[in-house]
Amino acid sequence: MPDSQETPDKPAKLAIAQQKGGVGKTTDTINIGGALAARGHDVLLWDADPQGYLTMGVGLDDEYTAEQPNQYTALTDPGEHDIRDLIRSHEEVDVVPANIDMFNLEQELVSAMRGRRRMDDLLADVSGYDFVLVDCPPSLGLLTDNALLACEDIIIPAEAEDTSIRALDILFKQIDSLESNFGVEIDERAILISNIDYPLDNEQQGMLEWFDDSFGDYIPVYEFRSRAVVKRAYNAGHSVFAHDEDCDQEDELLQLADYLADNRGEMV
Ligand SMILES: Nc1ncnc2c1ncn2[C@@H]1O[C@H](COP(=O)(O)OP(=O)(O)O)[C@@H](O)[C@H]1O
Ligand SMILES: [Mg+2]
Repeated sequence: MPDSQETPDKPAKLAIAQQKGGVGKTTDTINIGGALAARGHDVLLWDADPQGYLTMGVGLDDEYTAEQPNQYTALTDPGEHDIRDLIRSHEEVDVVPANIDMFNLEQELVSAMRGRRRMDDLLADVSGYDFVLVDCPPSLGLLTDNALLACEDIIIPAEAEDTSIRALDILFKQIDSLESNFGVEIDERAILISNIDYPLDNEQQGMLEWFDDSFGDYIPVYEFRSRAVVKRAYNAGHSVFAHDEDCDQEDELLQLADYLADNRGEMV
């Protein structure tokens, strides 16, 4: 873990969010984290999904069923926990694991004071990281709201399927609503077309053109193609960058990491 005395800078924080399940959020978070770490950045991954797939994908299975205190208690008892006590080490990055207790969390936060600001309050004390990446659950509930308000920057994973048009429309409406209710500005930093499998059919080709036409002028659009080695790396508990097989997606992920590093100052 980094020594906060040595690197007091605030981290850039990014929510990896999209309310559809299975669009690549967790896989993208682990591998963007791996790319940033491969470039020498100190990275903290936060698993905000009660299902804990990121926690499993970095090999922290035991943490998912660990006793309290854990992420659940930290988010429900404001002021009682130091985020440093929640952080676990991994070969590439540090991690705030999810915990099985989190299934009740959104219900409890809904009527709580600062119920959408709990993650922001915990992250206020974090230093010593260049980047914090928050893997969001597949819903637009309180946990995703917490991540968006804590980070104020978002990377949007999306499939090359026409359902993405509606999914992004719903996501942008939620972002607009948080912006007006909380007086914040949440910036879309990148679109990552995820788990995309070539050769493309006509619908997928059309969707790539739609992403480019709709976003290409103001947000970079990256592609992270479907590869069996990505799943094998997940099963081995790390990103493709720590895996002992080559993955031809590393270059694209490193380009995204370089773009984030070049623009880090705007996200802090
Ligand atoms: N680039 C990829 N290559 C291979 N499989 C992938 C890739 N991206 C995602 N997947 C697979 O697709 C499924 C959904 O991905 P996941 O990251 O869990 O999505 P989400 O977090 O949005 O639910 C998982 O089985 C994952 O292994
Ligand atoms: Mg996920």
